[in-house]
Amino acid sequence: MSRYIVTGGAGFIGSNLVRALLDEPGAEVSVIDNYLTGKRENIAELRDRIRVFEIDIRDYDAVRAAVDGADSVYHLAAIPSVPRSIVEPVPSHEVNIDGTFNVFRACSAAKVKRVVYAASSSAYGDTPVLPKTESMKPNPKSPYAAQKLMGEYYASVFHSCYGLETVALRFFNVYGPRQDPSSPYSGVISVFMKCLLERTSPTIHGDGTQSRDFTFVEDVAALCRRAAAAPSSACGRVYNAGNGNRYTLNEVWKTLNGIEGLDIPVNYGPSRAGDVRDSQADTTDAREFLGHAPRFSLEQGLERTLAWYRTSLAVPA
Ligand code: UD1
Repeated sequence: MSRYIVTGGAGFIGSNLVRALLDEPGAEVSVIDNYLTGKRENIAELRDRIRVFEIDIRDYDAVRAAVDGADSVYHLAAIPSVPRSIVEPVPSHEVNIDGTFNVFRACSAAKVKRVVYAASSSAYGDTPVLPKTESMKPNPKSPYAAQKLMGEYYASVFHSCYGLETVALRFFNVYGPRQDPSSPYSGVISVFMKCLLERTSPTIHGDGTQSRDFTFVEDVAALCRRAAAAPSSACGRVYNAGNGNRYTLNEVWKTLNGIEGLDIPVNYGPSRAGDVRDSQADTTDAREFLGHAPRFSLEQGLERTLAWYRTSLAVPA
């Protein structure tokens, strides 16, 4: 029987990963979350199947006790968002860097077999070449990007200095069910979903020609599991966790309108500080070393996501 821990397991990506892990027969799944950005309702229906440690990753002793006996720890707990990290750099620094250090240190002390770390595509910043490959020099443009990059460096150092098996995955704009659309820092697809169902116009920062490698959350969860099961030779490294395509915001909004048979216009506003212009993952290494192949096209992912929002936002079809 395998024992898994997901930090940030009540968050958007974490709660999807918890569901994927529970599919494995006999798996014992625990969540570490302090509900700062995670939500109780994301895991409410799973409560009798999982254990929850309501702790803050800034508390080393609590993390150390919680990870004891774990086979794999998926470290997803973070304060996300590029703009949030610009407005409030201190909490995001403390959670994303100090908290991450605590998780690696605790896992090393507890002799956890493998740690999968959620890094971010924001580490690349603006690069002249697309798609972005792991060998490119990082160029963070925001505190969030710098923090997530520091976590990668710690993942690598805990591997080389302490023998902790770590795999860092650079998540590329993940979307899907349970992404919260209600915060000023919400991911753009969750905002689009809400606007579409409420038949209102979204505000696009800039002219909407910026592009992203939008990656469906089930593909990311599958890749996390691959990273935990990959041979030891794959450890100590960073891999892109993307779909391999890129779409502009204008294209995504048009596609969503097409699915609903609508043509809602967009409001265009000023560009956002710290924004990256274009983002697209080279998925070669994830395929070759982790055996991962994304399953969902953008349309498929958007349709599944829309179906979930339709139910959860209780908007009539
Ligand atoms: C960045 C990272 C991503 C990471 C995420 C964490 C890059 C390329 N991606 O996402 O890997 O997981 O941070 O938070 O750095 N936008 C609008 N209107 C809105 C909301 C957003 O136009 O209402 C625009 C933004 O200005 C941006 C794009 O949509 O150009 C995507 O924004 P967002 O969804 O917040 O993600 P990133 O900042 O790209």
